[in-house]
Amino acid sequence: MRSYAIANIKGGSGKTTVAVNLAAGLALAGRKVVLFDLDPQASSTFHLLPQSHNGNLADSLAGEKKIDDILTGTLVSGLQLAPGSRLLAPFDNGAHPTRDRLSHLLAQLPEDIDYVLLDTPPTWGSLLVGTLSCVDAVLIPVSTRELDLHILGLLMDVIDQVKRHRNSRLRIAGVVPNRTVHTRLSAKVEASLRETYGASVYGPVRENARLAEAGGFHAPIQITAPSSTGAEDFAELTRCFLDREEMRFRDLTG
Ligand SMILES: Nc1ncnc2c1ncn2[C@@H]1O[C@H](COP(=O)(O)OP(=O)(O)O)[C@@H](O)[C@H]1O
Ligand SMILES: [Mg+2]
Repeated sequence: MRSYAIANIKGGSGKTTVAVNLAAGLALAGRKVVLFDLDPQASSTFHLLPQSHNGNLADSLAGEKKIDDILTGTLVSGLQLAPGSRLLAPFDNGAHPTRDRLSHLLAQLPEDIDYVLLDTPPTWGSLLVGTLSCVDAVLIPVSTRELDLHILGLLMDVIDQVKRHRNSRLRIAGVVPNRTVHTRLSAKVEASLRETYGASVYGPVRENARLAEAGGFHAPIQITAPSSTGAEDFAELTRCFLDREEMRFRDLTG
């Protein structure tokens, strides 16, 4: 099992979009996947579940429910969700030992899970730091519609700090340029990402209204609009992610 935080302190960068549609892509490629929704705004949960569900991560972080009791199936076979809730908000302020409890929950997942993706809030609090402290890697979506690369710099500082003091194995799995469009600004932001972060930058996810709509249908893009450019870009992102990550795993084990 490998775990990936989907993180960026900047709201609207595409964390939830990448978390939901990459998780679905991995499951459709035959992997067993769990998506943790650690954002109190619970957007991944809204995106994937039309129905109400039994409990959420706040219950499990509080020790009131086992992870098994909150895992909920989705429309994609092989993809389960650990739902979020606004009740996660108190876990973001440092009053709870989020990191220890979260790593306990990860350790309790069934052994046949291949990938855990963890959608995180756009705040620089205990939920983000706790998540970074117990995952293997972090994947960073960046919106190319705004010139806010200094916020990415802040996130990189947080990642450095966590790596130094809490989780020495933390690795940057990649940067995903999101919402790319044919404007000079978008091209400039994408070029600047490639200049700074080199080969770790994935191919772009283009701006596509179908991606924004998908959440309203409570399903990932592969189901709601399988022939859209959004589905195309997530198929490519999934393929590249599997190539890189599974090649790496083979190198480490073989
Ligand atoms: N590539 C894209 N094309 C069109 N809309 C997008 C795209 N990526 C994200 N969005 C939309 O932008 C908004 C913010 O994206 P979201 O994934 O929720 O960001 P975050 O989780 O980082 O706050 C959402 O309404 C989402 O549907
Ligand atoms: Mg989100």
